[in-house]
Amino acid sequence: MSVDLEKILRPIPAEMAPYEPKYMLLASGEAAVVRAVDRDEIPDLLKHVEPLLHVERDYYDVVASRVYAELLSHYQYRFQDQYVLAVQVDGELAAIVNGRQVTPTLGLSLHTLALRRGLRVGAHAFAAKMEYHFDVLGHDEVLIVAESPIGFRRWMIEYKLEKRFEIPHELGGVPSWALTRELFDAARSSLVVGRRPVPPEILEKAMEAILPPSDPPTPALDPLSATRSKYDPTATALMVERWAMEGGMQDA
Ligand SMILES: CC(C)(COP(=O)(O)OP(=O)(O)OC[C@H]1O[C@@H](n2cnc3c(N)ncnc32)[C@H](O)[C@@H]1OP(=O)(O)O)[C@@H](O)C(=O)NCCC(=O)NCCS
Repeated sequence: MSVDLEKILRPIPAEMAPYEPKYMLLASGEAAVVRAVDRDEIPDLLKHVEPLLHVERDYYDVVASRVYAELLSHYQYRFQDQYVLAVQVDGELAAIVNGRQVTPTLGLSLHTLALRRGLRVGAHAFAAKMEYHFDVLGHDEVLIVAESPIGFRRWMIEYKLEKRFEIPHELGGVPSWALTRELFDAARSSLVVGRRPVPPEILEKAMEAILPPSDPPTPALDPLSATRSKYDPTATALMVERWAMEGGMQDA
């Protein structure tokens, strides 16, 4: 008997209504578009996530490596009910967010990754995905965790999330926090921005191609910052970086 193994390995997707794009003006005066990323566009994101694997600052390395795995698994049909949204400024990739539907009433936030800093692009992207969970998918609650202090400030504090510590989150099994519909409605007027429909010329530019981020986070030039960022009293991070810079790892 022959078995089509792919049919077993590939999860059966749930019906999920599409995300309707929106746009907003950033503090810089530029227009940013939030739109869904199709599966066949995932490789266009992966090449901009990969360099962030080497950025220790603000936990970009941890978050980027997880995002890379999630996006690749989604691309290869190895992830259950994942959606991916991108923020683009004049076509340029500015942020990526993803999440998934656990049940028809429960959503799960995976990640938020800002590739352009200092404009709350990440915060706007997170708000857009919560809008998708509550207003489009009809979820009652979304489970969330933070991997970085900035993330904690943005989600747990700004949205006043509730503890759901009895539920291990899919991201590493750490205790979950929850955004409920009531909390989201309370945050709407201050944290959720954007308009629909997106003017055709702005949307066309975004859909045409995902362009490289012009000023993405990069690894620190000063090796000491790696040590500081990891609170490394033995300076192992400093030495490893110096060896790598000198190409002298083999002499260690
Ligand atoms: C968390 C994250 C999505 C928030 O994105 P954001 O809302 O666009 O915010 P930024 O990261 O640009 O800025 C956050 C803070 O750092 C400061 N900051 C850090 N680096 C900066 C830079 N290069 N330029 C300007 N501001 C910077 C900002 O002033 C800002 O301060 P504020 O909170 O008082 O406004 C983003 O920091 C990120 O992608 N971090 C790495 C991955 C991560 O932690 N994801 C979330 C997992 S829970």
